[in-house]
Amino acid sequence: MTDYWRNIGFFICVLSIFPLVCFCATFVPVDNYLIDCGATASTSVGTRNFIADNNKDLLSTQEDILATTSLKSVTSSSDDLPLYQTARVFTGSSKYTFKIKQKGRHWIRLYFFPSTYEKYNLSAADFTVSTQNHVLFRSLNMQKDPVMKEYSVNVTSDTLVLTFTPSGNSTAFVNAIEVVSVPDDLIVDDGFALDPSVTSSGLVTQALETVWRVNMGGPTLTPINDTLQRTWVPDQSFLLEPNLASNFSNIKGVKYENRGQATENTAPPTVYGTLTQMNSSNDPRSIFNVTWQFDVSPGFQYLVRLHFCDVVSKALNVLIFNAYVDSKLAASSADPSTTSNNALGVPYYRDLVTAVAVSKTLRVGIGPSDLNKDYPNAILNGLEIMKMNNSMGNLIPGAGSVAITSGSSSKKTGMIVGVSVGVVGAVVLAGLFFVLCRKRRRLVQRQSKTWVPLSINDGTTSHTMGSKYSNGTTLSAASNFEYRVPFVAVQEATNNFDESWVIGIGGFGKVYKGELSDGTKVAVKRGNPRSQQGLAEFRTEIEMLSQFRHRHLVSLIGYCDERNEMILIYEYMEKGTLKGHLYGSGLPSLSWKERLEICIGSARGLHYLHTGYAKAVIHRDVKSANILLDENLMAKVADFGLSKTGPEIDQTHVSTAVKGSFGYLDPEYFRRQQLTEKSDVYSFGVVLFEVLCARPVIDPTLPREMVNLAEWALKWQKKGQLEQIIDQTLAGKIRPDSLRKFGETAEKCLADYGVDRPSMGDVLWNLEYALQLQEAVVQGDPEENSTNMIGELSPQVNNFNQDASASVTQFAGSGLDDLSGVSMSRVFSQLVKSEGR
Ligand SMILES: *[C@@H]1O[C@H](CO)[C@@H](O)[C@H](O)[C@H]1NC(C)=O
Ligand SMILES: *[C@@H]1O[C@H](CO)[C@@H](O)[C@H](O)[C@H]1NC(C)=O
Ligand SMILES: *[C@@H]1O[C@H](CO)[C@@H](O)[C@H](O)[C@H]1NC(C)=O
Repeated sequence: MTDYWRNIGFFICVLSIFPLVCFCATFVPVDNYLIDCGATASTSVGTRNFIADNNKDLLSTQEDILATTSLKSVTSSSDDLPLYQTARVFTGSSKYTFKIKQKGRHWIRLYFFPSTYEKYNLSAADFTVSTQNHVLFRSLNMQKDPVMKEYSVNVTSDTLVLTFTPSGNSTAFVNAIEVVSVPDDLIVDDGFALDPSVTSSGLVTQALETVWRVNMGGPTLTPINDTLQRTWVPDQSFLLEPNLASNFSNIKGVKYENRGQATENTAPPTVYGTLTQMNSSNDPRSIFNVTWQFDVSPGFQYLVRLHFCDVVSKALNVLIFNAYVDSKLAASSADPSTTSNNALGVPYYRDLVTAVAVSKTLRVGIGPSDLNKDYPNAILNGLEIMKMNNSMGNLIPGAGSVAITSGSSSKKTGMIVGVSVGVVGAVVLAGLFFVLCRKRRRLVQRQSKTWVPLSINDGTTSHTMGSKYSNGTTLSAASNFEYRVPFVAVQEATNNFDESWVIGIGGFGKVYKGELSDGTKVAVKRGNPRSQQGLAEFRTEIEMLSQFRHRHLVSLIGYCDERNEMILIYEYMEKGTLKGHLYGSGLPSLSWKERLEICIGSARGLHYLHTGYAKAVIHRDVKSANILLDENLMAKVADFGLSKTGPEIDQTHVSTAVKGSFGYLDPEYFRRQQLTEKSDVYSFGVVLFEVLCARPVIDPTLPREMVNLAEWALKWQKKGQLEQIIDQTLAGKIRPDSLRKFGETAEKCLADYGVDRPSMGDVLWNLEYALQLQEAVVQGDPEENSTNMIGELSPQVNNFNQDASASVTQFAGSGLDDLSGVSMSRVFSQLVKSEGR
């Protein structure tokens, strides 16, 4: 009792200190563009005025197409309805350019009504919307109702350019656009990581998409009720068990304090003053959780903001509870009265960063803490779920390739997309270059006793040991001088190209194992004597490899072009090829988890090749012999060295004989000789089955129906009995769900037509999911948590491993590498940059 009154006393005291603080200062956005697209005059919505987009400085588009539609079929009656009446239609890539007066975070709100507009049926329009740095939106599977998509991005340049890009022959459209400044403190840099693997800082630079914004226990709020013109929806429909929850409202109890973290811009009083709490009406002592479930798209991280404000308690320290996001503790024994400076009614929020979502739903729960068994209760006032851009900077899956494939419709579109993707690429490359320079610098320091790269301006001298190595010739066009290595150093490292140190031979030349004087092991690829063609390829290789830096791609350490040599030096991969670990070499067999991790690593490397650069790069020879493992069994894709730049040279590739390795070859590429990233996806599908079954992809010693692994495994996969043919050493060790996911993924990769195959990004996601299923960390789906293992195998199909003497036939150009066991030959090879298709 005494405590209670003391707290009340404090409460009254707090009230008397702060009653005059006024929080009515409204935020005035510096940049405030409200555009009613396709309109001929302004349109007012609530208190805001949207102007027509008939200004040439604002919009650049090929054709001026305004369209109108009828809103009769629309049932909703929101204020913004008039905005959906007119649309701007684009037949080619088009841009809105907004001048930005104050850099920083801005809302981008896009309004779409996919309907019929006079002669345009836009209900199936397929297009993307991007800024200079992020792909924000793709119009797939849109509902037929008007929809507003809200994004917030950090603008760092003087203009914000929104590019609308139709795919193929489709059209793009938009009904209205807002570009509006956001207060700087709305998104702060640091959140709490929900998983140890997550980096939770750097939020300020993230592009965010508002996926859900919910007012717990309260009404819908429209832009007019919110200082930042946001929309909040009620929470009832998201509750898993609505009867366990009850609403509470005390809007007058909300006290924004200037020393508090949350302001009226964080969320309006109607959000903080209403809440959902535990419904303990039957038994006040009962302990349970209140849980909401939201649809999200997997493959992205989410920023989850939980809003709390204790307007329900009558005293301090009685409401102590936990909050969960996807079963992970998001707030532990939270006590809003202490968190908010020992006062009731002071709003605050908590930002949480999730790991990459693997499930299509995200759950948020609240429940009492163990510290408070006497009066169990828990509250939540508001919730925002924001999708974070992926590592490509995008908010839609696989955007790199989406934008590129759209180039087919018109040259101009392709070019503009190319440019916008190029900007993203350039940013990525700039980052890579930075990392690379740092890495090189470290390397150079470490190896200064061994060799010294030649100086940038003069290829014939070097800084300290120049005189010793000054007899080199110059390759003036090669751009990455930092990588140059003197010939004598290469000689030293390879014991003067000792034939017994050869670890592989390919069309381009020999690969030697080498060791620098500091003990660093390297693989040294020495090209055959120079030809014009070879020289061009050598240069391109250096350029490409120094740009393509990724932990899952084998990396370039240096090159040597002295004395007409063409030598490339790569990191040495201790554990050799993936193939060597699967069969035929007597190495100990890998566990399922190790295999999944290797597949995931290589998928990452390939995904990066496909999407990490302005143009997709196609590997063309994906196979287990080209996936190398370091001492920790981390997978790196090798043999990605050769790419083409000019269109003339690309022409030669059209006529080049089909390259690749028999058994892995995409049948569509074989038929049409047209390369796409999906050819790599096909080959990767074969690798997946190879990893699962641990047998050669072509084994002529087997009965006919078993010779080709892809065909044979697909047959069992389609029967749903893949477990019959798996590597016997895995028997009983794979969880059925993990195997199912893995089998389905491999099957999709092997679809006859490239268009039906998943992107490498999708493959990656599915493999990660298969790993999660194996480790049974996927929550909320009891079916997935089965602990049954695949039973012992029927002996019938498992004898082939013994016959696996690996007599692999290959197509021209594939060389001897498959026969040489742990080789990493052909580090140069058949890689081309794909032209916009
Ligand atoms: C939202 O604002 C409108 C107009 O001022 C008002 O009539 C309505 O009551 C407000 N709604 C809420 C939930 O505050
Ligand atoms: C509430 O949810 C969390 C996370 O899912 C769980 O660990 C906890 O046991 C639940 N509590 C109750 C009482 O069900
Ligand atoms: C979002 O994109 C930026 C680059 O624009 C990048 O630095 C950041 O890491 C990305 N976020 C995530 C979660 O990958």
